Amino acid sequence: MSDRIAPVVADLDDVTLRQQFHVDFSPIGWHLGHAAWQRERWVLREVGGLPPLAPEFDALFDTFRSRKGARGTRLPDARRLRSYVEQVDEAMELARSRHRGEPQFERAARLADNHERQHVEIVLCVRLLGRLYVEPVGPTESPIESELPEIADGPWIPVEGGTFRLGAPRGDASDTESALQKDVDEDAWDNEHEAHEVHIDPFLMRRHPVSEAEWLGWMHAGGYERREWWSPEGWSWRTHHGVVAPGHWERSADGRWYRRALCGPTLAGGARPVAHVSWYEADAYARSQGARLPTEAEWERAASDARDKRRYPWGPSFEVGRADLGRCSGDCAALGAHPRGASPSGIEDLCGGVWEWVADHFAPYPGFVPGRYAEYSAPWFGARHRVARGGSWLTAPSNARVTFRNWYEPHVRQPCLGVRLVRDA
Ligand code: AVJ
Ligand code: FE
Repeated sequence: MSDRIAPVVADLDDVTLRQQFHVDFSPIGWHLGHAAWQRERWVLREVGGLPPLAPEFDALFDTFRSRKGARGTRLPDARRLRSYVEQVDEAMELARSRHRGEPQFERAARLADNHERQHVEIVLCVRLLGRLYVEPVGPTESPIESELPEIADGPWIPVEGGTFRLGAPRGDASDTESALQKDVDEDAWDNEHEAHEVHIDPFLMRRHPVSEAEWLGWMHAGGYERREWWSPEGWSWRTHHGVVAPGHWERSADGRWYRRALCGPTLAGGARPVAHVSWYEADAYARSQGARLPTEAEWERAASDARDKRRYPWGPSFEVGRADLGRCSGDCAALGAHPRGASPSGIEDLCGGVWEWVADHFAPYPGFVPGRYAEYSAPWFGARHRVARGGSWLTAPSNARVTFRNWYEPHVRQPCLGVRLVRDA
């Protein structure tokens, strides 16, 4: 597990760091510089009152001042880039010795940490795009789905309806009493506020996300050919791009499907959750099963105890073994490998494994106010983006809390995005 980008890109040379593997994804070197620059800005400059360490980077590492396509050529060379990151780290150490315990400083430092953790996940997905495998292990067999029969049948778990508080509790961070009562989530991002009551009807949710084996079965059943299962926009996306399988899946000469994993190519079709599918594919799959994608409120209710809002489905804090989270090498775990991470209603793998697409567009909750990273959420609200919940095996636990909201355009499938089904009760 790494909270920092530098160690997960230490093996990459200058040419690779500036390479852009996909129009929607910045070069890896840019992520490295951007995360350091945001830390410098939020903590050292805005809280510490220090002058810029490298004013020439402002126009490059500020997301809203640099064009994605131009970032690779504008990057400083790898040596300068890495030394800037070290400079920021050293200045952070000094600042910490001066400001430790000051709520303003601690809050900004925490934001910078959680922000960098998000970029660690993106960088790992870009490594996969560029086939920059981490610890390649060569083709391996996936766990076989039939060894896990209860997953193949996928029991449907009932979840009660009623009123439910959606979103993260907010407290005044200086109000230690409420922090002690644990009704404050200090890792929450602006879009998780304000928590508000919603009503949901009872529903059924599959115990596990959809597996690769199920997805392969769907492909053989004509999933990508049967137009009646697709939304009109989904069908035109799939036709225009000739999509016949999840992202990173490839058919070999022997007719078998392989998937490119972070550790290298492996056989597809096992008991891992299917990943790298778009919202359009998730939606089509759900319709073909007489099911649907959960709403955000249903997803969060399924991951919570209705009366006792906790950060994770199993309780208040992350523990190794409860979820497939915070990893940066190897491969995603098989479904059902973390029964101790089940939600109070007995649903598994909600946090970790794969992000789960939900039905909703990304919209502000009532009373939304932009946070210190003012451009984090507000520019992306609206009908262009769909929400995904729960974090993937590459997500840091602090960003995979039950109230965390991720969002992408419906065609995006480079991150570890998968499918969870629900049905009306
Ligand atoms: C929340 C993953 C959609 O990658 O655009 C990092 C995270 N935003 N810095 C993104 C983010 C600004 C964001 N996602
Ligand atoms: Fe960022």
